[in-house]
Amino acid sequence: MTRNSICIKVPKQHAEQALAMAHKLNLLNKGLQINRDENFVYIPLCHKPTKTELEKTKELSSAIELSTRLFLEKKKNISYTELLEKKLPPHLLASLPRAMDIICDICIVEIPPELDAYRQEIGTVILKTNRNVRTVLAKASAVTGMYRLRKFAVIAGEPKTETVHKEYTCKFHVDVSKAYFSPRLSAEHSRIAHLVKEGETVLDMFAGIGPFAVQIAKKHENVKVYAVDANPDAVEFLKRNARLNRVEEKITVFLGDSRKVIKEKLVGVADRVIMNLPEKSLEYVDVACQALRSAGGVIHFYSFIKRGNTLRDAEVCLAETVAYAGRKVEKVLFSRFVRETAPHQWQAVTDAKIV
Ligand SMILES: C[S@@+](CC[C@H](N)C(=O)[O-])C[C@H]1O[C@@H](n2cnc3c(N)ncnc32)[C@H](O)[C@@H]1O
Repeated sequence: MTRNSICIKVPKQHAEQALAMAHKLNLLNKGLQINRDENFVYIPLCHKPTKTELEKTKELSSAIELSTRLFLEKKKNISYTELLEKKLPPHLLASLPRAMDIICDICIVEIPPELDAYRQEIGTVILKTNRNVRTVLAKASAVTGMYRLRKFAVIAGEPKTETVHKEYTCKFHVDVSKAYFSPRLSAEHSRIAHLVKEGETVLDMFAGIGPFAVQIAKKHENVKVYAVDANPDAVEFLKRNARLNRVEEKITVFLGDSRKVIKEKLVGVADRVIMNLPEKSLEYVDVACQALRSAGGVIHFYSFIKRGNTLRDAEVCLAETVAYAGRKVEKVLFSRFVRETAPHQWQAVTDAKIV
């Protein structure tokens, strides 16, 4: 069944932010499926936004506009919220977690403190409403430390934190309590794998369990990937994942601090460097530049952007740091917001050609 609905028409690169904003402003029509074409995403709304709401949305991009369009209606399953309505006091329903990360058969949710007494009920309903989920984990700390780990509590199902997750054509052994992994980065892992060209040497400076490295190696016949991580567990998973996907011959894995590894073994070897450690990548730009061939190459630089700052700020900051390291950003090839990581904080990527 289709239905005509008012919507916002958003350039593709701002869709994820606009969707989060529509959620936040309670504008999203959850009964209709989001539409897209080559350049735009169409987000159905449940009512016409007020002038202030529209202005707030347009802060993300001036190209966002109101429109009307036909949308497919979503199939109506009895939702997790509907099931919980019977178990929770009404004033707590608005606090129910909406976002969940699904890593194969493990579901990860963030339960706000006011719902702490109901975590088991919430977990059980998530199990009931998601056929493939076997374990529900609640986030029990922030992501912290050099290894970028957080604590989890099992709130329903099998008590485990390890599984085998599929991302595009690759499979990954993952233990979320031992090594960093986020399914929200899957499109980004795939985007970078598609940019790599045959014959390239790629350095993944903060490789984790290997989602960039393995996808790149699997997608290309003739590539050499160097993958570094400081977390011994991540490196063990990375080696296992390289074997699982039959790409171990294309990936050389190093355990250690990437600054030290580059200085000792990888100066001037890479056509492309991936720097996915957003909170610290700026500190490593100098060694990333040293890892690039003398003729130059591409850096994929990840950073966090807080409200009030822009993608352009991240580009300028990268260019200044590259210049300080004695090289030059010849061209910013691409940049975008990847995902919201905290209220008013976004992970962003800048792809830059360095000479
Ligand atoms: C945000 S995670 C990214 C993992 C992976 N690239 C991905 O997309 O899933 C950052 C990784 O960098 C590692 N790390 C942190 N500091 C490091 C350093 N100085 N040298 C090497 N690895 C480091 C952490 O252990 C963690 O696995």
